[in-house]
Amino acid sequence: MRMVDIIEKKRNGEELTSEEIRFFVQGYTEGSIPDYQVSSLMMAIYFQDMNDRERADLTMAMVESGDQIDLSGIEGIKVDKHSTGGVGDTTTLSLAAMVAACGVPVAKMSGRGLGHTGGTIDKLESIQGFHVELTTEQFTKQVNDIGTAVVGQSGNLTPADKKLYALRDVTGTVASIPLIASSIMSKKIASGADAIVLDVKTGDGAFMKTYEDAQQLAHAMVQIGNNVGRNTMAIISDMSQPLGFAIGNALEVKEAIDTLNGNGPEDLMELCYTLGSQMVVLGGKAASIEEARQQLQEVIANGKALEVFKRFVEAQGGDTSVVDDPSRLPQAKYKFELPAKSSGYIAKIEADDVGVAAMLLGAGRATKESTIDLSVGLVLHKKVGDEVTEGESILTIHANSENIAEVKEKLYQHIVISEEKVEAPQLIKEVIT
Ligand code: URA
Ligand code: CA
Repeated sequence: MRMVDIIEKKRNGEELTSEEIRFFVQGYTEGSIPDYQVSSLMMAIYFQDMNDRERADLTMAMVESGDQIDLSGIEGIKVDKHSTGGVGDTTTLSLAAMVAACGVPVAKMSGRGLGHTGGTIDKLESIQGFHVELTTEQFTKQVNDIGTAVVGQSGNLTPADKKLYALRDVTGTVASIPLIASSIMSKKIASGADAIVLDVKTGDGAFMKTYEDAQQLAHAMVQIGNNVGRNTMAIISDMSQPLGFAIGNALEVKEAIDTLNGNGPEDLMELCYTLGSQMVVLGGKAASIEEARQQLQEVIANGKALEVFKRFVEAQGGDTSVVDDPSRLPQAKYKFELPAKSSGYIAKIEADDVGVAAMLLGAGRATKESTIDLSVGLVLHKKVGDEVTEGESILTIHANSENIAEVKEKLYQHIVISEEKVEAPQLIKEVIT
């Protein structure tokens, strides 16, 4: 087989065979096919697209390029959730405990990553003593005993995707639905998921800015999952403003605990119920979305979800007293209010830029080497659509420095108040089952 023939075939809009797809993925991973040929093929795919079979084959070729996590020691259907980024998204922490309390095992492999705030692991590490270094045996046993565990990324998962994503990044070929969908799905499948729930975000703070793109991506990923034997569902949710109230690491852990107590922000609770319902159905513990939602509401009301979270924190070495008293989480030295400059209605809280403001305080990582300040961040008191009067606080800034002029300026620039009444955006835009 010659790579140049594969490139020309795709350039001419023809379908690639399974063998051809495996050939280029393997060859590129091993280094026998050079960057310039693969970047040419990526551009051909960008323009000519791939059909459902090609997308499924590409996904599985990337899965098979490296290690695959074996979760067969865990009883039950392992359902994983993936969200395509967002600002202040604390969902994973509450959701894992809620779903586990309904009897569906949640075996989570997580990373630190770059962004406005830390990843799931960084957030959890704001609980004193919490660690994610578990052996496979400990990880398996903990999920069987308690229902959930979070472990740091290890092993050589989807090396083909790592190489391809880095190449796409510098060749103008990231924004291709078949390439994004197969990239995301390959990582979930290699991590051992039997079934997958996807939260595709749309809006200013999301990877997919337009609704049409989000829709296409969601449908593409559901199709891939179902075609490779992993039941997959998805939702499309709004990320035009941050999720919940808190943006920061310890602040989001507190918000997750509030949610498990049934006192979380309305949008975060709704998102947990919606995604959780899909996970409980896919995990085989409820026959319908409605039944699953009822079960989730029960484990919040009777405290079982909170109890699972507590046991999970304890099993991974964390100080469980923060669950009863979140004020024991790391606290920033200073709190500053951001008073509204005029009266009216909140028209915009631009998620991306508000996230950057949190990052300027030290809540996120700009490069792999930067350190994170777990205590700092923002807590919103208003969301889009809310009424506000001049001088009233829109949000509280939690900082470890008094020098926050730049942060304030950024926030004032990207939080818009209008004189006319504004509709709150709809959070769950579409449910794909
Ligand atoms: N996220 C991924 O993991 N892969 C892509 O290709 C794009 C976003
Ligand atoms: Ca939040």
